[in-house]
Amino acid sequence: MRIIRCKDYDAMSRKAANIISAQVIMKPNAKLGLATGTTPIGAYQQLIKWYEKDDVDFSQVSTYNLDEYRGLSHEDPQSYHYFMRKNFFDHVNIDLANTHVPDGSNLDADEACASYDELVKSVGYVDLQLLGIGNNGHIGFNEPDEAFSKGTHCVDLTESTIQANSRLFEREEDVPRQAYTMGVQTIMRARSILVIANGEAKAQAVRDMCFGRVTPHVPASILQLHTNCTVIADDAALSLCPEIK
Ligand code: F6R
Repeated sequence: MRIIRCKDYDAMSRKAANIISAQVIMKPNAKLGLATGTTPIGAYQQLIKWYEKDDVDFSQVSTYNLDEYRGLSHEDPQSYHYFMRKNFFDHVNIDLANTHVPDGSNLDADEACASYDELVKSVGYVDLQLLGIGNNGHIGFNEPDEAFSKGTHCVDLTESTIQANSRLFEREEDVPRQAYTMGVQTIMRARSILVIANGEAKAQAVRDMCFGRVTPHVPASILQLHTNCTVIADDAALSLCPEIK
């Protein structure tokens, strides 16, 4: 695991965008695994700026998002489909037909998850997986548990995740209680992984991810076993990791 410290959110976002755009420059038809949430917004904004300057071309790129709320249509402003269009896809020259997000509008969880899994497997998994990390160490919506999950599956969100995500909804009751998420095994099949984290609220999770025991109680800790995983975190998120200068 490579750990890169930077001073703040903007620096973290620029470094992450550098790595993503290098991947696309080296392999124009790269398969990118993408994340939603607050953390990657700055990286997406930076990528949009570079696209506008003609420095990076997404025309051959395909994308596979980690997760989606169960029960939300693609047009629902709270859906991750919508988030990706608003924050990234609508601003670059990616072909929307090449962008993939689990289908939250399909209430048949087994079918929705199996077909997403089949899709990611059929393309040979992603070249670069971008990840944020939850305050409780989750990746995607893989919450702390007794065992690591494997493929795409339906999860009941924990109280802590519902609370953390409620800031993006009008009322806490509006936060969906279930989501479809890529499993830990699928995430680990990415050829490279890039985790980004900022802010003090993430400090314990970042410490546990990078230096704790590998345990399903901290799903992100399994990333220590990936052969090509980079963590980019700001000073606040690394405040409990004095060994990283
Ligand atoms: C989102 C996702 C989640 C978030 C995590 C951090 O697609 O998979 O694991 O990365 O909850 O969220 P933020 O960035 O909002 O702190």
